[in-house]
Amino acid sequence: MSILQSEIAVGSELFEENKQALLTQLDEIRAVQNKSIEKSYAAKPKFDKRGKILPHERIRLVLDADSPFVELCGLVGFNMHDDKDGSEAGGGIIAGIGFVSGVRCLVSASNSAIKGGTMSPMGVHKSLRLQQIALEQKLPIVTLAESGGANLNYAAEVFTLGGTTFANQARLSAAGIPQLSVVHGNATAGGAYQPGLSDYVITVRKQTEMLLAGPPLLFAATGEVATAEELGGAEMHAQIAGTAEYLAENDADAIRLAREIFDHLNWKEQTHPIIENYKEPRYPADELLGIIPANPKQPFDMKEIIARLVDDSDFLEFKQEYDDLTVCGWAKLGAMHVGIITNNGPITPQGAAKTAQFIQLCEQTNRPLVFLHNTTGFMVGTDAEQNGIIKHGSKLIQAVANCSVPKISIVVAGSYGAGNYAMCGRPLAPDFIFAWPNSHVAVMGAAQAGKVLRIVAEGKQKASGMEPNEQMLDFLEQSTAMKLEQQSTALFNTAMMHDDGIIDPRDTRKILIFLLQTIYEAEYRMLKASKFGVSRF
Ligand code: COA
Repeated sequence: MSILQSEIAVGSELFEENKQALLTQLDEIRAVQNKSIEKSYAAKPKFDKRGKILPHERIRLVLDADSPFVELCGLVGFNMHDDKDGSEAGGGIIAGIGFVSGVRCLVSASNSAIKGGTMSPMGVHKSLRLQQIALEQKLPIVTLAESGGANLNYAAEVFTLGGTTFANQARLSAAGIPQLSVVHGNATAGGAYQPGLSDYVITVRKQTEMLLAGPPLLFAATGEVATAEELGGAEMHAQIAGTAEYLAENDADAIRLAREIFDHLNWKEQTHPIIENYKEPRYPADELLGIIPANPKQPFDMKEIIARLVDDSDFLEFKQEYDDLTVCGWAKLGAMHVGIITNNGPITPQGAAKTAQFIQLCEQTNRPLVFLHNTTGFMVGTDAEQNGIIKHGSKLIQAVANCSVPKISIVVAGSYGAGNYAMCGRPLAPDFIFAWPNSHVAVMGAAQAGKVLRIVAEGKQKASGMEPNEQMLDFLEQSTAMKLEQQSTALFNTAMMHDDGIIDPRDTRKILIFLLQTIYEAEYRMLKASKFGVSRF
């Protein structure tokens, strides 16, 4: 056993200062989350009057009472498109992985309390990501739908990719992944195809309006006069059109039916058993808050983080003597074997070569990889270049891109430049990627980017025979740095969906174990695929 020994002075002035800084960053994220939840709940009187349950409550009711819920992409679209005051983050959808009647599945609800649950451009990107996760992790999908369809202020950005979500639904059904939709209210135009392409549909009496054209549009287009009930009501779909398999009396009844259908899915019965018996780390998760220096320029040892994440703090390091800026080693998380890759600085040629070798060893015995990002990027300078940093860095990127073992990334601190690719950032398609509130992801450090543009502009001024304009150069340097700093924060990156969400550092182990169990379940599940999926006749 190789038990990590912590050298952190828990409770010291420095520890408390670091902790305070991280808690402040976490509070900022929580404030954004709460703002959008509060905005949803502000619609309660309207929902009550209509006899409806709010979207967050629908999610709560459909999940098993003791189910965990790992929310996905919760803050996408923050301050983007129609979200003018930062209160509408989430892309119009609330989604995550949890258990419904004992079935691990992807649960998603239209956030119909905000903008009628309409689909913004980031909402479409989120839908595509959710479908990708469901397909890769073989997760059945429950959708609690109530959406006015495309957000018409951004119709052009939503239209084409929106169509891909429908194609994906057909592919998911054909892959053998069941999709269930409850139509709690509006499902207009293209939005009607979301339930239409689901394998099980539940409509809700006096609420469902699933139609291609509502009464005003129908009259304008054809002159026909019809009620919404006749065109797309719950009874009509259950009794006449046959679009729905089940007719519920109200929201709660529909959710009860959804749970009952999942109970009969024959899914959990074919789930590979998960090992429940393992040791907790020797150091409490709370201490994760005080390790990362409030000053990002100060180095710290990522093994202090690992000691608080892995079973029994047991970590067998690989080739420690060869390069200590990149750390690789084996550990267990919830009794599941993993290879951990992390950084204590830039990635050197040796570090890149060692990591590529380590990945091959994990590939050889199917050990999932956990990347804990803390890198300023690949090493630069004559020494690194002459030692083949491009060659070795490319080899590492090849290994990350082509290895077939599951990959999970946690952006713990900085993740810069191609180092982000080498550490399996979003572009390298990890199975899951989550970020800590203090994390930064960018092409390079903000200050360095400012300096680069300053040097380039100064060079141009000199080449054209001008005296360098210091005032203009100062402005260029500062404004560039400020912009990049703002665009590298955790909140900015999560809004752009460069990760699957921001997490409380103290939850990292719990979330990693949950995700590894999700992956493990998927690996052992046999799907009964077909060529065309389930059609309704
Ligand atoms: N695009 C952009 N914004 C929309 C929208 C759309 N398709 N549909 C509704 N909204 C906005 C409203 O402007 C309103 O914005 P506000 O909160 O800033 O005032 C908000 O969503 C809520 O709309 P409201 O009509 O008050 O809520 P509701 O719960 O009574 O009804 C709908 C919701 C979706 C049923 C209704 O707004 C509707 O029928 N919208 C049009 C649907 C449609 O035809 N879509 C075609 C898409 S292809």
